[in-house]
Amino acid sequence: MKTQIEKIREEFLKQLALIKDNEELRELELKYLSRKGEFSEIMHGLKDVSIELRKELGELANTVKGEMQTKFEEVRHSLESFAKKSDFIDVTLPGEKIENGHIHPVTLVQNELEDLFTSLGFMIGDGPELESDYYNFTALNVPPLHPARDMQDTFYIESKNKEDQYDLVMRTQTSPVQIRLMQKYGAPLKAIIPGRCFRNEATDSRHEHTFYQVEGIMVGKDINFANLKSLLEIVGKKLFGANTELRMRPKFFPFVEPGNNGEYTCFLCQGKGCRVCKYTGWLEIVGAGLIHPDVLRAGGVDPEIYSGLAFGFGLNRLAMLKYNINDVRLFNSGDIKFLEQF
Ligand code: FA5
Repeated sequence: MKTQIEKIREEFLKQLALIKDNEELRELELKYLSRKGEFSEIMHGLKDVSIELRKELGELANTVKGEMQTKFEEVRHSLESFAKKSDFIDVTLPGEKIENGHIHPVTLVQNELEDLFTSLGFMIGDGPELESDYYNFTALNVPPLHPARDMQDTFYIESKNKEDQYDLVMRTQTSPVQIRLMQKYGAPLKAIIPGRCFRNEATDSRHEHTFYQVEGIMVGKDINFANLKSLLEIVGKKLFGANTELRMRPKFFPFVEPGNNGEYTCFLCQGKGCRVCKYTGWLEIVGAGLIHPDVLRAGGVDPEIYSGLAFGFGLNRLAMLKYNINDVRLFNSGDIKFLEQF
């Protein structure tokens, strides 16, 4: 029995040295140290030997078991501290991918124009989306009942003014902010005004009820058509490339005189003619002109001393051209598949 105890000890220590994880350790414990383990069997066997031998073997068995228990605890302890150490974070490993939002394509074009115009010394203005009928139409030379009101239908708000008239509208254009800025800052003045506009439209691939414009205004002494042309040329080259040309064709806007439409060389066919430019080689992008004297007066600026230029880009249309988007309604759709491309 003495050799049997020594053998168990030897086997146990051999196997303990090979332990790699807690599971193997637990198996070893069951095999040797548990109540049904090999050591318990030895202890049971002691009852069949003589009293002297039982004493001697009992002492040996207890010493060996104690030693095995101590070694066992040592290994368990080192396994535990290794597990703790492996909790540390390796900062050089690639991290988990965090989903980022995307900048809206209209905002991308707006940012580009803001960068350009601030670099030319323009400030960025702002005005209310819920606007008075006066600022949106009358002050811009479109008095009540004037036929030019038909050019832009909008959403009228039921709220009466002091004269008992409904006079709040969702603004149809950013042009009313021209008046607000002239009233606030006077002349000279250089500003652009990006913002949201609303129109009562039968929507289609080029018309939305809610869209964005960027207005531009420059008021000072001797501001003339050449200033307007050079500014619009700079914008075209910045947005669509250095070879972009500008042509200006007359168009009626009540708040400018003369008024015109700015057209750029089609960025897709370089002026040769294609589907996008309807085979003309030109893309109609911006309404512009020299500010009408009545509008300067409404802004509190004396047209005998100052003159001014103004222009208005449709931001959604610019983004459509820049990113080859074929339907303006995609911008407000909230469609993730569309937005994720930017
Ligand atoms: C105006 O709104 C003038 N205020 C522009 C202007 C400013 C002229 C200063 C002169 C001086 P117009 O209605 O053409 O003009 O609109 C300007 C641009 O807004 C259009 O070229 C187009 O790009 C965009 N736009 C107009 N209506 C819509 C619509 N329903 N959906 C999307 N974009 C539109």
